[in-house]
Amino acid sequence: MSASLSRPIRVGVWLIGARGSVATTVVAGCAAVTAGLHPPTGMVTETPDFTDCGLPPLSSLVFGGHDTVDCPLPKRAEALAAGGVLPPGLPAAIASELTAADREIRTGGPAPGDSRDEENLIAAFAADMRDFVRRCGLERAVVVNVASTEPPATGASLPPSSLYAAAALRAGCPYVNFTPSTGLHHPSLAALAEASGLPYAGRDGKTGQTLLRSALGPMFAQRALAVRAWSGTNLLGGGDGAALADPAAAAAKNSGKERVLADTLGSVPQGEVHIDDVPALGDWKTAWDHIAFDGFLGTRMILQTIWQGCDSALAAPLVLDLARLVARAHETGLTGPLSELGFYFKDPVGEAPSALGEQYAVLREFGGRLGRLGRSGQVGRLGRLKGPAAESGDGPRAGAAALQDSGGGSVAAAARKLTDGSRAAGVGEELTDGSVAQPQAQGRAQGRAQGRAQGRAQGRAGAGEER
Ligand SMILES: NC(=O)c1ccc[n+]([C@@H]2O[C@H](COP(=O)([O-])OP(=O)(O)OC[C@H]3O[C@@H](n4cnc5c(N)ncnc54)[C@H](O)[C@@H]3O)[C@@H](O)[C@H]2O)c1
Repeated sequence: MSASLSRPIRVGVWLIGARGSVATTVVAGCAAVTAGLHPPTGMVTETPDFTDCGLPPLSSLVFGGHDTVDCPLPKRAEALAAGGVLPPGLPAAIASELTAADREIRTGGPAPGDSRDEENLIAAFAADMRDFVRRCGLERAVVVNVASTEPPATGASLPPSSLYAAAALRAGCPYVNFTPSTGLHHPSLAALAEASGLPYAGRDGKTGQTLLRSALGPMFAQRALAVRAWSGTNLLGGGDGAALADPAAAAAKNSGKERVLADTLGSVPQGEVHIDDVPALGDWKTAWDHIAFDGFLGTRMILQTIWQGCDSALAAPLVLDLARLVARAHETGLTGPLSELGFYFKDPVGEAPSALGEQYAVLREFGGRLGRLGRSGQVGRLGRLKGPAAESGDGPRAGAAALQDSGGGSVAAAARKLTDGSRAAGVGEELTDGSVAQPQAQGRAQGRAQGRAQGRAQGRAGAGEER
């Protein structure tokens, strides 16, 4: 990190699903790496390309969150160590960090029989997030959804993931959806997200089968091999396996996997993806892919891959990367969907390339940009930006305030109020290095459209006419 950007700070990571496998591995992993007990294997932000991005150091991260179960984090970590997910002895070595994070976990919801309406739930969740920032003296906090996968939302009512996402906006916190759940994708939150002046990213972390697909799909396309069918089966246990035993939740997960093939190959080949819950496997996932393709003169060939991964160990370093990148984006005043983080997701927000290599190039360029930008103000804590928005009262806080001022009205009404009355905070604001934060609907859209068009063109070129 450059000298001008290094300073003691504390940055919050508010985990929705804070007592789950991924969340517990995030907290334990951050403590283990910070203490020098383990190297940061799997953390892209700890590689040389990201040294000068001005990212908050791992030692500055403070954890808290919401969950609906009350198993203490140290006990959860012991269970993960017993299952071989965490190294034996690690929970004891970092007991104080686990206890500190446990103290910052609040009861989420809605619990069965909870009589609070949507507005009350959002207000309660947002109050917990704001208290966390104040109590811990944080510069800002990033909200990351790692709760159980929900079925796709239907109708106007907000699913829990969307209530938390709305609460994050209201609390002035950038938001990351690491799950396939609806989160900020709910139609009644779209205007609110856009007007909030906050950066956000998602959705559904890309850790195994889809990671392979985003690397192999471009290979077939670039070598002009015609993929006829791509079928996959996943066997997994743990909480995620149980949640995905619900066909509706599995459908949410599988749509992201299919999107990667459609985007990299140019069309969806035959074949389906299945997810089977096998509780005996615990956190270990086996993903098998069977790819039937044609070579020169129609010669038929097959590639099979078997991925055996420990889900939480794959996911946790990505969550830490995302929290740091999004916190830094927030610090620089960037707003809106961070499509540059598509490298991490199955179903990235905004227009972004789907091929892993291109996604990495975009991420690296984004990291360079973060390093060149200064600080535009302590947006999360103070709700202010450098420049006219700070004085006028427009800005991220204007977005949050509109929700607060909605007098208990619907989220949709609050969103309307935002879009009618205030501009998207931070858009076009002058940053401290003299550059300008990109309007989400303009600057980034060009790059995204180009990237996606390139990816599709390559896919089409290689995939041939027959699919
Ligand atoms: N591990 C991976 O490789 C990976 C990759 C991509 C996405 N994900 C997603 O990450 C999420 C977490 O996975 P996991 O293995 O940690 O699952 P898990 O079942 O171990 O943990 C989920 C946690 O969410 C909590 N929760 C459920 N409903 C809640 C609510 N309304 N409010 C607050 N908390 C709630 C549960 O109590 C549980 O503690 C899943 O949605 C999964 O699909 C994981």
